[in-house]
Amino acid sequence: KASQAAEKRGWHLYLVGGAVRDLLLADTTGTLMIKDIDLVVDGFHKSADVGAGVELAKALQQIYPAARLEIHGAFQTAALLWHKDPEFDSLWVDIATARTEFYPYPAANPEVEASSIRQDLYRRDFTINAMALRLTSPRAGELLDFFGGLLDLHAKQIRVLHANSFIEDPTRIYRGVRFAVRFNFEIEPQTKEYIRYAINSGVYDRTTQENSRTPALQTRLKAELKHILEAPYWKSALQLLDDLGALQCIHPTLKLERELLWQLRLLERCLQRFDPQQTLIHWQMRLEALIAHLAPEYRAKVAENLQLPEDSIARLKNLAQSLCQIVESLPNCQSPSQVVQLLRQFDLPMLILIATYSPRVSKLRRQIWHYLTVWSHVQPILNGNDLKKLGYKPGPQYRQILDNLLTATLDGAISDRIQAEEFLA
Ligand code: CTP
Repeated sequence: KASQAAEKRGWHLYLVGGAVRDLLLADTTGTLMIKDIDLVVDGFHKSADVGAGVELAKALQQIYPAARLEIHGAFQTAALLWHKDPEFDSLWVDIATARTEFYPYPAANPEVEASSIRQDLYRRDFTINAMALRLTSPRAGELLDFFGGLLDLHAKQIRVLHANSFIEDPTRIYRGVRFAVRFNFEIEPQTKEYIRYAINSGVYDRTTQENSRTPALQTRLKAELKHILEAPYWKSALQLLDDLGALQCIHPTLKLERELLWQLRLLERCLQRFDPQQTLIHWQMRLEALIAHLAPEYRAKVAENLQLPEDSIARLKNLAQSLCQIVESLPNCQSPSQVVQLLRQFDLPMLILIATYSPRVSKLRRQIWHYLTVWSHVQPILNGNDLKKLGYKPGPQYRQILDNLLTATLDGAISDRIQAEEFLA
C-alpha cells in the first residue's frame, strides 16, 4: 500500500536500516522479528515535495485508520504506530524524506535518485545498517548497497562508514557493541581503531559533562544502555565496552573490575530471588549497580546526567549514608525483631543495592538476605479482627499491639494463637 501511494505521486520508496539488515540476516538464521520499519521517500524533484514523508504517512493513515500518526515537523518525518492491533500486533513505521539537495532534473533520472538515497544512507552508522531495499517500481525489490553492507553481513563484521562517525555520535560506540554481541559479529579492526581514537580524544567528556547543552546525547546514551542492559547478552556487551574503554562514556573512572563483576553477579541472584515477577526495572538496577561502583561523590551526578528517575537518583545519592547506618547499627541488633526494625526503613531496591554493593561485608549481606527471605514475611499471629473479637476497642493502639505481637513472634516468644492470646493477657 505504501509503495502504491508513493508511485502514485511519482516518488520512490525504500526500506532502510535495521529492517533490511534483519531481512538479509533471516536468510541465514531463518528467524525474523521486525517491530520497527524505517522507510525513506525519495526521487522527487519539486521543492514542494520536501514534506513527502509526512504526506505519505497521512495517506497511509487514511488506509489504516487504526494506526496512530505522529508528525515530527522539524525533521520532516512521520511515524505510524500500531499498538497491539489484530493486523500488525505491534509495529512502528517511520517515514522520512531523503535528506538531499534538490536537483533540477526529473526524478526518473537514476543518477539523481541514486545520489540522494546514497547521501541518506551515508549518514548512517554501520555498513550493515546502510542498505536500502527499493519498494517502488521500476526495479522494486532491488538492494541498494553502496558501502559493502552485504559483504560485511556475510563476513560478520561491524564496520563504520567513515572515520568521524564516533566523534559525531559517541553513542554509536554502544550501538556497535550491541550489534556485535547480539549477532555474534566482530567489530572490524579499523572500526575498533576509530572507537579507540574517539575515546582517547575525550569524546566521553561530551557524554558525561555536557548534560545541559546536549541532553539529546544523554538521552540516546541512556536508550542504548537500556537496550544493552535488558538484553540476554548484557554481560558480554559490558565486557566488550570495557575492553574498548567505552564505559568511560558513563564516567571516566568506570572500569569493569573483578569486584564490580562480583557485585553484578550478586545483583542477578538478588533479582532472581527477590523479584521473580520483575516488579522492579531490572536493566535500571544493573545500571544503578554500575553507578554504585563509582566513588560516592560521582553517583548522583551520573544518575542525573543519564536522566534516571527521581527514586533511582535518590537511591544512589543516599546509598553511602544508608550503608553507613546499617553497618553501624546492625552489630548492635540483639534479636531478629531489632534487625527488622532497622531494615524495614529501606525499600527492596535499596536493600538489594546495599547487599550487592557490600559483598565484602558478608555478615551484613547474610542478614539482609535473611531479612528479605524470612523475617520481612513474618506477620503478627493475630490480626485486627482477632483483636476485636478479643474485646479490644478499635483504634490507633491496634498498631502498637500488632507490633508487639510481631516482635514476640520474630523473637520466638510466641508461635501460635493460644500463646499469642496468653501474651496479650
Ligand atoms: N542510525 C544511525 N546512527 C544512530 C542511530 C541510528 O545511523 N546513532 C540509523 C541506522 O541506519 C539504523 C537506523 O538509523 O539502522 C534505525 O535506527 P534504530 O531503529 O535505532 O536501530 P536498528 O538498526 O533498527 O536496530 P534495532 O534492531 O536494534 O532497532
